[in-house]
Amino acid sequence: MGVRMSDSKKRTGKSQRGISRDMVMMVVALTLVTVIAATLLGLTDKVTREPILQAQREMLHRSLQQVLPVHTNSTLDETLKIKTADGIRTIYVARDAENKVLAFAWEVVAPDGYSGSIRILMGVLPDGAVYAVRITDHRETPGLGDGIVRNKPWLDFFSGKTADNVRWAVKKDGGDFDQFTGATITPRAVVKAVRKGLAFFAKNRALLLAKTVGK
Ligand SMILES: Cc1cc2nc3c(=O)[nH]c(=O)nc-3n(C[C@H](O)[C@H](O)[C@H](O)COP(=O)(O)O)c2cc1C
Repeated sequence: MGVRMSDSKKRTGKSQRGISRDMVMMVVALTLVTVIAATLLGLTDKVTREPILQAQREMLHRSLQQVLPVHTNSTLDETLKIKTADGIRTIYVARDAENKVLAFAWEVVAPDGYSGSIRILMGVLPDGAVYAVRITDHRETPGLGDGIVRNKPWLDFFSGKTADNVRWAVKKDGGDFDQFTGATITPRAVVKAVRKGLAFFAKNRALLLAKTVGK
């Protein structure tokens, strides 16, 4: 141990440097616990990472099926990366059996939900019309803002809408989208985010078609 102890120190269990045996034992024990805990954490991460990724992939696949027309390709495996002000956006491409591009899908995030961010997957046809919208993650209040998930007619109202054929706001703000009883903040946030998603498409439509049509 290299801890030399004078006679008087032996009686007190303290080394010449004044470190008690108990202190040394405690440090050793703490180090052991830390190493074991870190090893277990690493193992757990290793064991659970693949199943978690797989589950996330399956969930995304199911959501893509809901926002895209029936298609024959694997949308998870045909993606484009487009730079936006908020970072790189992944675009999923749906094709029919003749390889024709049927629609695109991507995620938008509404930062201003009642309880924080709302994640939305939107499918858009090449002509710029919304095919369908699905909420993939939110923490809005049950019975109030969660109408964005429960209220299917409200969600279906997005289908067929373009940047110009509807007023993109809730009715309380002079638009065409319903708000919910006692809940305006949530629907307002989703409508705004989907509208922003269509603006992104309008800006990148030519690029997306150039990268996909005839490929
Ligand atoms: C506990 C509690 C939870 C609420 N949850 C939501 C919600 O999830 N979504 C929402 O739009 N409004 C929610 N509201 C209502 C909003 O505070 C607000 O009154 C309503 O959205 C109307 O907004 P407006 O005044 O902008 O029209 C909640 C209110 C309370 C007291």
